[in-house]
Amino acid sequence: MSVSQRALAIDTSPPPARWMKETLDRSAFHRTIPVLAARVAPAKAGILLKADVMRRTIMNLPKVRTVLSDPEDPKGSRLLLFRVQQEADLSEEARAFLSQQEAILTSHELQLDYDYWTADEILQAVLPEELLEGSPTGFAITGHLAHMNLNAEYLPYKHIIGQVVLDKNKRLRTVVNKLDSIDTKFRFFKMELIAGEPDFIVEHHESDCRFTFDFSQVYWNSRLHTEHERLVQLFQPSDVVADVFAGVGPFAVPAGKKGCAVLANDLNPNSYKYLEQNIHDNKVAELVRASCEDGKDFIRSSVLTALENPFPAYAGPKLTKAQLKEKRRKQGQPEDSAVPTQPEDPSPPFLPPRNRIAHFVMNLPDSAITFLGAFKGLLASGKLREVYEGGMPVVHCHCFTRELELEVAEKDIRQRVAAELGYELQEEDEVSLHLVRSVAPNKDMYCISFRLPRQVAFLDAQ
Ligand SMILES: C[S@@+](CC[C@H](N)C(=O)[O-])C[C@H]1O[C@@H](n2cnc3c(N)ncnc32)[C@H](O)[C@@H]1O
Repeated sequence: MSVSQRALAIDTSPPPARWMKETLDRSAFHRTIPVLAARVAPAKAGILLKADVMRRTIMNLPKVRTVLSDPEDPKGSRLLLFRVQQEADLSEEARAFLSQQEAILTSHELQLDYDYWTADEILQAVLPEELLEGSPTGFAITGHLAHMNLNAEYLPYKHIIGQVVLDKNKRLRTVVNKLDSIDTKFRFFKMELIAGEPDFIVEHHESDCRFTFDFSQVYWNSRLHTEHERLVQLFQPSDVVADVFAGVGPFAVPAGKKGCAVLANDLNPNSYKYLEQNIHDNKVAELVRASCEDGKDFIRSSVLTALENPFPAYAGPKLTKAQLKEKRRKQGQPEDSAVPTQPEDPSPPFLPPRNRIAHFVMNLPDSAITFLGAFKGLLASGKLREVYEGGMPVVHCHCFTRELELEVAEKDIRQRVAAELGYELQEEDEVSLHLVRSVAPNKDMYCISFRLPRQVAFLDAQ
């Protein structure tokens, strides 16, 4: 082995601890590694660190300090650590340079412990050899909680895996493992606590909004972040939006912040409870109204609610605190005077209250298509028909398909939509299909958007 090969050969892996199964024993992870060091005057340390000839020799382990004060020298010399273990491992040139700099070679013991190693390194030392390929440490974070999806073979080690993940991620307090079953009605995952506190009430931030919810009782998926943003971007601030399966509000609350008026609904009483809280916490109560009913009933009642109890007209963007300060400064008012952040002009009198829904959001991909029948004849009655002659709403309906080719997927989705609407969507219905994400190797999630066809909405009930 050449000197340069030997120079890289310090083994810093944690000691194997394959006897651990149920409980993590952090004290088992300790390792003393003798390394070569140079004792030098403080002024020389910098010279050695910068010298080209020393570059391949100087200690470069993450989280290990390269220059230490020398405990054995009260006059304050420094110890410069090398990544080799003996003098013979140094190159000729390095040795000559060290002697020229009056460095005294000595040895130093590196002490590595549990805190030094990464979660993966610790688990590689614990798990049986046959499980070492592939890492079980993948997880998604929601607030202070990490959720894992451990394969069956890792389950005997779940508490150790959870504890290591918890220890190595300082913002976490709770680690859960998803169980196979999903609550079929309200779509949240069953889960078990594998480490940390049994506190499932998380505070999560998305789209500049704060969401609080009980992760064990409601649906939440951070992977839908971009889909939430995509749809909210499509809305005009003056739109009225009806969110049929609103969950705890990831479409509804940001839409409200944008200025949209929102009817947000979810049948899960727990989702409804946190939806209400999130509306309140994000200060959108004037614009976002929550309800807790079945999606079909909601679709039918929402158009009447908007008609009979309309939202105030859009009054322009809210001022940010900085804009407000600037405005007060220009008006010669004290910057911290109690002027509200709402625009000061009330709704201009020529803008009527908002009573017509512009978008329906239907994010229940497992079955949203089966709710589309509720649109048949929805706007057929006199007053509704009159209002919606001014513009039909756009429906954004999420769905799954097992067809992985775009063309075949589109055909499949359109057929299922047609079966529910009793109408085949045409060119003029402004149909668009968006691939949201792949949820499994043979299952994709899409959003089909279309303008509600008059033939469907105005269909005479008789
Ligand atoms: C896939 S989640 C989507 C939640 C939210 N829109 C989001 O993007 O995170 C579907 C939601 O529909 C709700 N839900 C299920 N069945 C429902 C029904 N029949 N009527 C209304 N809401 C329903 C569930 O409780 C769940 O919160």
